[in-house]
Amino acid sequence: MTSKLAVIGFGNIAKAIITPLLDKNLINPKDVYCLVNTKKSLENIRKNYDHDINIFQANSLESSIVWECKVKLLSVKPQQLKNIVESNKNQNSRNLLVSILAGVSLEKLVERFPNHKCVRVVTNIPITIGKGLTGITWGGGIEENQKKFIKTLFESSSKIYEFPEDLLDIFLALTSSGPAIIGLIVEALSDGGLSGGLQKQLSEELVMEMILGTVSLIKDTNLTTAELKNMVTSPGGTTISALRVLENKGLRSALIEAVISASNRSKEFH
Ligand SMILES: NC(=O)c1ccc[n+]([C@@H]2O[C@H](COP(=O)([O-])OP(=O)(O)OC[C@H]3O[C@@H](n4cnc5c(N)ncnc54)[C@H](OP(=O)(O)O)[C@@H]3O)[C@@H](O)[C@H]2O)c1
Repeated sequence: MTSKLAVIGFGNIAKAIITPLLDKNLINPKDVYCLVNTKKSLENIRKNYDHDINIFQANSLESSIVWECKVKLLSVKPQQLKNIVESNKNQNSRNLLVSILAGVSLEKLVERFPNHKCVRVVTNIPITIGKGLTGITWGGGIEENQKKFIKTLFESSSKIYEFPEDLLDIFLALTSSGPAIIGLIVEALSDGGLSGGLQKQLSEELVMEMILGTVSLIKDTNLTTAELKNMVTSPGGTTISALRVLENKGLRSALIEAVISASNRSKEFH
């Protein structure tokens, strides 16, 4: 990668995207120009970040150099978008702005940054350990080599899926809200173990190893979920007894409704 890259908001998710690119020498730290809001973050990054990137405070004199970069990653919180001030409105029609802001539509981005071609990206929290899922919707007029460059930005930390924008809300519901749902399931199952007399820490460890093992089994052997269920249920046995309780309590429907609800909520933010 040779282009200069601006990062508007060098927080948790932006670091998760940029750091592996720097670690793998896919981008030169001298080509990365970042903005943060507070002096505290600025000093913290200058002091503690492993790579010698260019970092400035928003609205400082130097911040205009960041806005001169042709490719920008917009990674502030959605509620901070209103504070973003583009310091020099460069009219170059090849300028690209890639937004990872949850729920902010392409239409809103184009309205807010009229001199950029815009890309809307949804990613999820496992990106912070290089295991993210990233959904991309391309705005109009983006060239193939620009798409390739943008995909490279996310490839080191996530798997990439391309979608029309109307599917990004359900992608977000499933993959960005999903980690909280899995967290709740881990917690609840661990509490089940605790109720049965296991130590909390051991119970949680067993649940997580069981989930990892089960998912690997499904992936590695191409088992269908129905085949897996048949493998572990026996007539009058323990597992069918457990599943009956869950069906009776409506867990299956609750999970479906949870995903649809998250997707509908995301649409309300547009
Ligand atoms: N967290 C998640 O699970 C997750 C997952 C996927 C996508 N996202 C999306 O990722 C985005 C960033 O989330 P995050 O968790 O990385 O947030 P974060 O850690 O709070 O980072 C936000 C960054 O933006 C900076 N900033 C704030 N106002 C600014 C301004 N006016 N000009 C320039 N920089 C400014 C902040 O600087 P200071 O530190 O100085 O305030 C900080 O560096 C959000 O839009 C979110 O929707 C989040």
